[in-house]
Amino acid sequence: MSGPLKVGIVGLGTVGQGVVRVLQKNAAAIAARAGRAIVVTDVSVRNAAASRDCSLAGIRVHATPEAVVAADVDVICELIGGTDLANDLILAALAGGKSVVTANKALIAEKGNALIADAQARGLSLSFEAAVAGGIPIIKVLREGLTANAIDSLAGIINGTSNYILTQMTVKGQSFADALKDAQKLGYAEADPTFDVEGIDAAHKLTILASIAFGTPLNFAAVATEGLSKVQAQDIQLARELGYRIKSLGIAKRSEQGVELRVHPTLVPDDHLLAKTDGALNAVRVHGNAVGQTVYVGRGAGGEPTASAVIADLVDIARLNGARPVVPALGFTAAALAAQPTPFPILGIEEIESAYYLRLTVADEPGVLRALTTILADADISVEAILQKEPEDHEDARIAIITSVVSGSRFDAALERIRALPFVRADISRLRVEHFE
Ligand code: NDP
Ligand code: HSE
Repeated sequence: MSGPLKVGIVGLGTVGQGVVRVLQKNAAAIAARAGRAIVVTDVSVRNAAASRDCSLAGIRVHATPEAVVAADVDVICELIGGTDLANDLILAALAGGKSVVTANKALIAEKGNALIADAQARGLSLSFEAAVAGGIPIIKVLREGLTANAIDSLAGIINGTSNYILTQMTVKGQSFADALKDAQKLGYAEADPTFDVEGIDAAHKLTILASIAFGTPLNFAAVATEGLSKVQAQDIQLARELGYRIKSLGIAKRSEQGVELRVHPTLVPDDHLLAKTDGALNAVRVHGNAVGQTVYVGRGAGGEPTASAVIADLVDIARLNGARPVVPALGFTAAALAAQPTPFPILGIEEIESAYYLRLTVADEPGVLRALTTILADADISVEAILQKEPEDHEDARIAIITSVVSGSRFDAALERIRALPFVRADISRLRVEHFE
């Protein structure tokens, strides 16, 4: 067996502490799998007084991340987050001949093309399994396990915090604000939780998944994103009555016209596995042309699930024993990525087709339904399901409609006509529906 793989960790927060704990408690099994021990020798902490939920016995504790990058280690684990300091630290580590493991999806999605090229030019690993779906090894699945397939679509719950919030609101009737506070306490949320609730974190992850699935360069700017602020408690309730759950999904599809990339709250039929994926669990459905549909479910956030993915990357690096990595970071060779058209054709959100859920508040008077359905029929949009609720104030009624599949632009044009009807109130909700057929 070679000598131990020496690991330096920058950022000893939720994930960093999880990595130290799991490496310590599973040291023997990890060494037996890697062919050598994997040992954390150096860490950085910004606040030396803060208590840490892991043993730092025998580990050199530095006051700055730069000191860890300069230390005598083989690999740097970047677990700070953000896209500036983390970027500088990774570039410095690579320049110093050190491979890098990161859980930082924002950085990989936004600056990953250059970082990956830098690592590759130096013959070093830049690994980021933990960046997507926490403990689910979805990057390895797409990059290696499904390598025989042309992937045509993937869709998933890829943000644990928003799934936790929606689950708490749906199952326990908790308020959005209270559920978010709990998700933060449990270590699921990003330093800035806006990233979770506005779909930005999921967009970062979708960027990475789509690139590996389709062989296209990372393109975060191409993702159309809508956050949870679109969802009201009444929509959760109406969706349930119509036979759906509302989930925040990341969806990527490839067709001859180009790639569609979107993150938004979505109605999912309540008998689908994604609808049953609750709490901080993540689930990713991948469709390949040889394998068909596959679904991966697991804990998508939290210290130890994420550490599981970080350590899997460390084991791959330990097994290389200093050799060049053989699996390209994005699954396709640099030459294949470079051969893609630039810019790669991305479908605008208005071109994307889906079914819709529409919730309207209307004056409770005769002719309302006929006027609504006439506008939809004029636009060649079928009503697949409709629900009218008794008026609570004896004045206005609530109507929820599920439509047939239609392009965003055609639906929006019909919605503008509906909005202009004199009996339609301003409070309108419009969400997409996925049936996974
Ligand atoms: P935390 O906020 O818990 O930890 C971040 C750590 O980085 C802290 O220890 C903090 O130090 C340190 N740090 C932050 N800023 C600086 C700075 N300017 N200089 C030096 N140290 C700094 O974050 P997480 O552990 O939750 O997340 C880390 C990374 O992992 C992020 O990229 C996140 O997106 C990703 N991730 C997180 C998951 C999760 O479930 N939490 C899951 C998957 C990925 P100090 O403690 O001293 O303040
Ligand atoms: N904030 C992220 C989430 C952490 O809630 O999914 C895991 O990437």
